[in-house]
Amino acid sequence: MSLTIALNRGRILKECLPLLARCGIDVGEDISASRKLVFDSVCGNFQLLIVRGSDVPTYVEHGAADLGVTGKDTLLEHDGGSGYYERLDMGIGRCQLMTAAPVGADLDLPKLRVATKFVRVAQDHYARLRQPVSIIALSGAMEIAPVMGLADCIVDIVDTGNTLRANGLEALDSITEVSTRLIVNKAAMKTKYDAVEALITQLRAVV
Ligand code: PRP
Repeated sequence: MSLTIALNRGRILKECLPLLARCGIDVGEDISASRKLVFDSVCGNFQLLIVRGSDVPTYVEHGAADLGVTGKDTLLEHDGGSGYYERLDMGIGRCQLMTAAPVGADLDLPKLRVATKFVRVAQDHYARLRQPVSIIALSGAMEIAPVMGLADCIVDIVDTGNTLRANGLEALDSITEVSTRLIVNKAAMKTKYDAVEALITQLRAVV
């Protein structure tokens, strides 16, 4: 029985492909160098979809993919989560969701302007702190928002901290640690139980 796996393109994809290869899932061509978005495995048992991270949970919860691989940050931000199970921490893509601001910035303000693409995470974080905020939703490159006066601080992924440093920002509070997760469509968990469990067992052995 064939399984369809939605994969987060970009950094996660590069780290994920060697793990899939160790489970015998190989498409026989260089996915990163191709403009194709759908690949069949050489063994014929898997189909790989290359999509944006934020679309991985959408594909999986609607059953357009049986499984998905994306970051916990994306799952926290996704509006839903009822259509899939989170089954495995893949042990890759480890980083932190953090608040950050220009070095030495005065954040003792009645209302903070927070630029982020992690709107839900940021709202929850500042609600817990009882800090009034105005959230400014961006799609990326949040680091320049405080530099250009669009925001006082940001909520973003921090891995090495190089992007923050390069833009004159410093990390402040860690909101949560994140890593890459495997999610499974709830219906596929029943109808394709054996194939899904076999893959999870193989992945667990290599992560
Ligand atoms: C992420 C994040 C930061 C950067 C952090 O962006 O948004 O900009 O990585 O990594 P660092 O701490 O090692 O510098 P990414 O490159 O994934 O692109 P994105 O803006 O599309 O999320």
